[in-house]
Amino acid sequence: MKVCIPAEINTDELRVAATPKTVLRLIKQGFEVFVEKDAGLKANFSNKEFTDSGATVLGTAKEIYATGDIILKVLAPGNQEIELMQKGQVLLSYLWPAQNPDLLERLSKKGVNAVAMDAIPRISRAQKMDVLSSMANIAGYRSVIESANYFGRFLNGQITAAGKVAPAKVLVIGAGVAGLAAIGTARSLGAIVRAFDTRMEVAEQIESMGAQFLTVDIEEDGSTDSGYSKVMSPAFIAAEMALFKKQAEEIDIIITTAQIPGRKAPVLVLKECVDTLKPGSVIVDLAASTGGNCELTKDGEIYTTDNGVIIVGKLSQLPSQASQLYGNNLCHLLDDMGKAENFKIDMEDDVVSRAMVTHNGAINWPPEPLPVSPQKKKEDITEEIDDAPTPEELSKKKAKSTLINLTFIGGFLLLLGMVAPAEFMQHFTVFVLSVFIGWQVIWNVSHSLHTPLMAVTNAISGIIVIGGLELFKNADIPLPLIILAAIAIFVASINIVGGFFVTHRMLKMFKK
Ligand code: NAI
Repeated sequence: MKVCIPAEINTDELRVAATPKTVLRLIKQGFEVFVEKDAGLKANFSNKEFTDSGATVLGTAKEIYATGDIILKVLAPGNQEIELMQKGQVLLSYLWPAQNPDLLERLSKKGVNAVAMDAIPRISRAQKMDVLSSMANIAGYRSVIESANYFGRFLNGQITAAGKVAPAKVLVIGAGVAGLAAIGTARSLGAIVRAFDTRMEVAEQIESMGAQFLTVDIEEDGSTDSGYSKVMSPAFIAAEMALFKKQAEEIDIIITTAQIPGRKAPVLVLKECVDTLKPGSVIVDLAASTGGNCELTKDGEIYTTDNGVIIVGKLSQLPSQASQLYGNNLCHLLDDMGKAENFKIDMEDDVVSRAMVTHNGAINWPPEPLPVSPQKKKEDITEEIDDAPTPEELSKKKAKSTLINLTFIGGFLLLLGMVAPAEFMQHFTVFVLSVFIGWQVIWNVSHSLHTPLMAVTNAISGIIVIGGLELFKNADIPLPLIILAAIAIFVASINIVGGFFVTHRMLKMFKK
């Protein structure tokens, strides 16, 4: 099967749907890969890098569309590109089906089986194919870097010989994927961060990242089964706007990410709020392309208002990294669709059936909604907590099982003592008791202390190895003892080598 990657014809689009690394992966999946000449240049991938990875570079878009069974693209195809497509071809691309009914019409007429990467349902299994999340994560990070660039001050507070500098105050509106990435980045740069969202479930996430969760005095939760927020009541939006205007008296940077899928972004930052901000403040509006969360945002533009506030309606894309993550998302979907050998459009599959917006000449949109990886309802959690045993019950249960174990071991030793020689019994009792105590001790150590525990068990294993080797020195020991010593040395060595291996891996996690 042939996978083809055309160049993006929109001059503002810097990404490409495959990188040399994802080409390697596509080839491993069994596909033949063809890339249009210079398709990766804007994302810093040369034609040579693509050919070195095993792709064939074709000179024109016409050749690309004539060759591919599957077309990988970033932006939705325009008329000119649809013209070049073939009946039965599979297209994986952003399509924004809710906003583009005409595009679906044209693709279905052409007989193209089109997958809207932006319509992948938000279920756990599909997280690795979720382009909205991977791109929102980049945008959230970038929004802070960009705002720091326009904001003429440090983000962190500093005490220097020349004087004290207060930390910048950042307000993040909307704490979905982009918002949380922005909170994380702003916090890591030392800013004081406040955040607001209509979904109450994100409060904990916001606070765990060291930001303050702001609320309004209206009982309304924006959470829905789809994981996205619903449209809020006018009273709630009014309360939000009042909150943001009040915050604007202190805030230096506002990053807005609030979106409702398939709709225009809610306007939350009004002109009067912008007027309240100090000159030099920055607003980065990540919802600019869907209408903007700020009333004054100009999509694709960065400008300064009359009162000196910089409004950013466009972000640079980090194109090579974005292409890499987007390409990975596509590879995961192709994995799911059976790779080259068993490639199949399975309309029974939850992910494929919802994202395949045109299939065999018909439009397959809108799909049945699918609940996101379900968040448990509060009542269910409370019920589960009620059913769970209390700590006293747990410790009683544990004491009972220890007693049963000890009785069992005692009984066994008594029976064995009636038939076995006295010397054997002495050693055997010590052995059984040390196994029991060792097991009890290790079992009770909390997981976080397993690394130091491993060092101790390594030391014990070392003693066992030496003991085993000592036995070998004695020429006239019986064969069963030699076998036991060899087993002891072997098992203890596994423990030592495994211990070093695991410790090495854990240490690597902390190395930058
Ligand atoms: P998004 O880009 O559609 O919206 C961004 C944020 O804006 C959301 O948190 C939303 O609640 C908020 N918002 C909407 N209206 C607002 C208003 N009037 N005021 C303030 N905030 C408002 O959503 P995003 O970031 O793509 O994801 C939303 C959620 O979806 C995630 O937090 C997560 O729970 C879920 N998700 C699940 C995935 C999965 O299981 N595969 C993958 C990614 C996200």
